[in-house]
Amino acid sequence: MEGKVMPILELKNVSKIYNGSTKALSNVSFKVEEGEFISIIGPSGAGKSTLLRCINRLIDVSEGNVVFDGEDITSIKGRKLRQIRTKTGMIFQHYNLVDRLSVVENILHGTLGRKSTFRGMIGSYTEDEKKYAFEIIDDLGLSDQAYKRCDELSGGQKQRAGIARVIMQSPKLILCDEPIASLDPKASKVIMDHLLDINRNKNITCIVNLHQVDVAVKYSSRIIGVLSGEIVFDGPPSELTQEMIHRIYRSDSSDLITDVSGGLYEQ
Ligand SMILES: Nc1ncnc2c1ncn2[C@@H]1O[C@H](COP(=O)(O)OP(=O)(O)O)[C@@H](O)[C@H]1O
Ligand SMILES: [Mg+2]
Repeated sequence: MEGKVMPILELKNVSKIYNGSTKALSNVSFKVEEGEFISIIGPSGAGKSTLLRCINRLIDVSEGNVVFDGEDITSIKGRKLRQIRTKTGMIFQHYNLVDRLSVVENILHGTLGRKSTFRGMIGSYTEDEKKYAFEIIDDLGLSDQAYKRCDELSGGQKQRAGIARVIMQSPKLILCDEPIASLDPKASKVIMDHLLDINRNKNITCIVNLHQVDVAVKYSSRIIGVLSGEIVFDGPPSELTQEMIHRIYRSDSSDLITDVSGGLYEQ
């Protein structure tokens, strides 16, 4: 369709109320174009994780609509929901790998959403899948770790395995929930560089929840600031003012420190 680009994702007036009382998201609306690299920033409890869970339908929204890849996915169920999940890869703070399996086995698990339960259960993968898995392992610098059990890896290596598993899934959208919150600055940079590389070179749209404003500014094409379940900022990093940063983090400023380069880090 020439001239009209369809957004890959659209949230329309999404609200989420947990247990009939906690309002975690309030009337959230935004569109995401294919290829964007968006960081969601905001203090603990702002609603960042809830937002990602509404997008990949790990939870149901209370009000509003979620449109993904041209389809209203607000209340889809069963096989349809599983299909949508294979198109959205998830990266977690605590990696969510199967500890007793090797790196390559974890990565091949990334194909499971597309297989019959039986083929998945007996762990049968095609030669092409195995070849692709080793290519990804190589790209992520994990060749020496391929046959190690995941519980033998460092945090940074685990997160790289998590990214590899998501790439294996060939998703259209990657959702990352605080992917660097458990990593040191050096490992964090490696992870963010890989995410940016995937975004640019595989043209996969990324939405990343981050606590570190300086990282969001450095890597994103767009930042969405969330405070008490509402969007209070949506724009390019160049428009994110110090005033806005202080507004977003005002309720949480006690657990933030400013480092020498002016970035805000969680203590
Ligand atoms: N499963 C849940 N049940 C009830 N309340 C929840 C649940 N998950 C999150 N909340 C509440 O929703 C709000 C937003 O939480 P969350 O999305 O985890 O924020 P963030 O990821 O920004 O820290 C918080 O008040 C939190 O306590
Ligand atoms: Mg969270």
